[in-house]
Amino acid sequence: MWPTVLAASAFLLAVIVLVLVFHRRRRNRLYQQLARERAQIVANHPVRLAATCPEQYAAEFAKRPLVRIPDFVATESLEAMKQEALDNLHRVERTYLPTHKKGGTVSYEAISRYAPHCLSFYHSPEVQNWISMITGVKVYPTPDQDQSSLSLLCYTETGDHINWHYDHNFYKGRHFTVLLPLINRSRDGGPSASQLEYKISQEVETCDTSPNALVVFEGVKVLHRATPTREGDTRIILSMTYCSDPRNDWRKELLRRIKDIAFFGIRALWD
Ligand SMILES: [Fe+2]
Repeated sequence: MWPTVLAASAFLLAVIVLVLVFHRRRRNRLYQQLARERAQIVANHPVRLAATCPEQYAAEFAKRPLVRIPDFVATESLEAMKQEALDNLHRVERTYLPTHKKGGTVSYEAISRYAPHCLSFYHSPEVQNWISMITGVKVYPTPDQDQSSLSLLCYTETGDHINWHYDHNFYKGRHFTVLLPLINRSRDGGPSASQLEYKISQEVETCDTSPNALVVFEGVKVLHRATPTREGDTRIILSMTYCSDPRNDWRKELLRRIKDIAFFGIRALWD
């Protein structure tokens, strides 16, 4: 009896390991292919910035780890990204974690395939130079398999929100969250009810997430949340992460994947 059970268990385990190994290889090939295609996409969809003087924001960021830069991109670039966000709403992956989060996300992989202006913005050398100048360290995009490296956070249903949290750092270098609100409106035309609130000291502050205001913060230092939307609200934010050294080890990679279940469901563990 026991030898049969042991043999069956060993066989099952071997099958699971083989499936995971083949899946990992297939995903790695996909990420390599997307990375190869990316340079041409970025070249074909240049981003035009409207903001000037990153030095001014660098001085501010040196004092507190959150800055907001209004009117960051030129109108045509903003409109192109906004249209891509709306065109990709059917690709949203929705998750609900009681008491913590409810909302939809379009993954980095989907953006790489279907939202070239958003992809181009994230990989724009000019944008990276801005973030590097503001933060005072040279930053790089986080890895391709990290689906939160670049994503669209889509609050389109009543009560979409995320509760108080830090953006934990799963990489070797310093890690920054960069948000570019694309759409933030209620049914009657005003802003949505969802507010970005944060605490650097004890006091709760509100960050204006009107479209085209770039928000840069160091997620491990800034406790933050997005309050719930009301019926008829639409709030779509291009969310990006940059890091001064985007390498990690398998333990941090596993923790990152567990965290990403909140955004992409259980597939975050193996995709
Ligand atoms: Fe966050």
